[in-house]
Amino acid sequence: MAQEVRGVIAPGKNEPVRVETIVVPDPGPGEAVVRVQACGVCHTDLHYKQGGITDEFPFLLGHEAAGVVESVGEGVTDVAPGDFVILNWRAVCGQCRACLRGRPWYCFDTHNARQKMTLTDGTELSPALGIGAFAEKTLVAAGQCTKVDPDVSPAVAGLLGCGVMAGIGAAINTGNVSRGDSVAVIGCGGVGDAAIAGAYLAGAGKIIAVDIDDRKLETARTMGATHTVNSKDTDPVEAVRELTGGFGADVVIEAVGRPETYRQAFYARDLAGTVVLVGVPTPEMKLELPLLDVFGRGGALKSSWYGDCLPSRDFPMLIDLHRQGRLPLEKFVTETIQLDEVEKAFERMHHGDVLRSVVVL
Ligand SMILES: NC(=O)c1ccc[n+]([C@@H]2O[C@H](COP(=O)([O-])OP(=O)(O)OC[C@H]3O[C@@H](n4cnc5c(N)ncnc54)[C@H](O)[C@@H]3O)[C@@H](O)[C@H]2O)c1
Ligand SMILES: [Zn+2]
Ligand SMILES: [Zn+2]
Repeated sequence: MAQEVRGVIAPGKNEPVRVETIVVPDPGPGEAVVRVQACGVCHTDLHYKQGGITDEFPFLLGHEAAGVVESVGEGVTDVAPGDFVILNWRAVCGQCRACLRGRPWYCFDTHNARQKMTLTDGTELSPALGIGAFAEKTLVAAGQCTKVDPDVSPAVAGLLGCGVMAGIGAAINTGNVSRGDSVAVIGCGGVGDAAIAGAYLAGAGKIIAVDIDDRKLETARTMGATHTVNSKDTDPVEAVRELTGGFGADVVIEAVGRPETYRQAFYARDLAGTVVLVGVPTPEMKLELPLLDVFGRGGALKSSWYGDCLPSRDFPMLIDLHRQGRLPLEKFVTETIQLDEVEKAFERMHHGDVLRSVVVL
């Protein structure tokens, strides 16, 4: 029997979001229904609301979530009702050319639920990143549920479902930061701060935080930044070079998603260093760089999809490190809110007042 629950939808481009009754079908083959306990507000939800991702309105927003599996469909064996899970938006298929080459974190055919959640009048909803978790319950592909130790607060665990995993993974997976490396992170929101925490965890020597907001730089220090640069007043390329013996950082992580900050990342990097783009640009953005500099400066220019994570490998490991007191995930939760406060949370995010607002159900 399909169930009716409350969920937050974005009805149309730039229209305020609102709480509506949504219909969640019973799980079909390979699907699961999850009772959502917490879901963080990510910048990508705002991009959806602004029409910056697709125009398939109405969206059921929310995708950074943890909860308990309520029911599973035919053939589901990896998770069972009662399991505490973090939802992921890249459930790998195991069969595409990336998976077959042994690089499943690049999977080109990730899974989502086949059935659609709807409004009560039958209007189909597009769940954000195939999840839609600003809702009391949501329907996902069973592979989107990653079981973790239940002895951790859902508000904290859910963060690994998107921004914090993307940031940590940008440093430790994509950027391959290792002991003694110098690292610069441009943009210190939830994603950038997670990249700082990841670099710290990996044993980076110098960790330089760059942002245009002093409040963000203060928090970045608590995540492990050893130096901070306010790029409103100071040229960040010069500053990073100065802090690294005149050379630039071994790894520079761009966590804003804009051409000007990407250019800063490109030039703030040492010869043969690595740039990681984890910030998500919008369709109209263009980048121009002298091709000779791209060649002459060498190294690697990489993008980081979801921190190149493998949920089944990385979520339990990071929860374990958190429980040991080695990864301060709780510091990312600025406030907990109710379902009907998501619009307000977008405002606060826009003004830079929060790292993460987390809806708790
Ligand atoms: N690659 C992925 O898988 C993935 C996953 C989640 C989010 N993201 C993307 O990461 C980006 C950051 O997300 P977030 O949730 O941390 O957002 P956020 O709004 O919390 O943080 C953005 C930060 O960038 C800073 N900033 C803005 N303009 C700047 C500039 N010119 N120079 C330096 N700093 C600047 C802001 O002050 C803020 O601290 C977004 O583009 C988001 O869509 C990517
Ligand atoms: Zn695949
Ligand atoms: Zn996200």
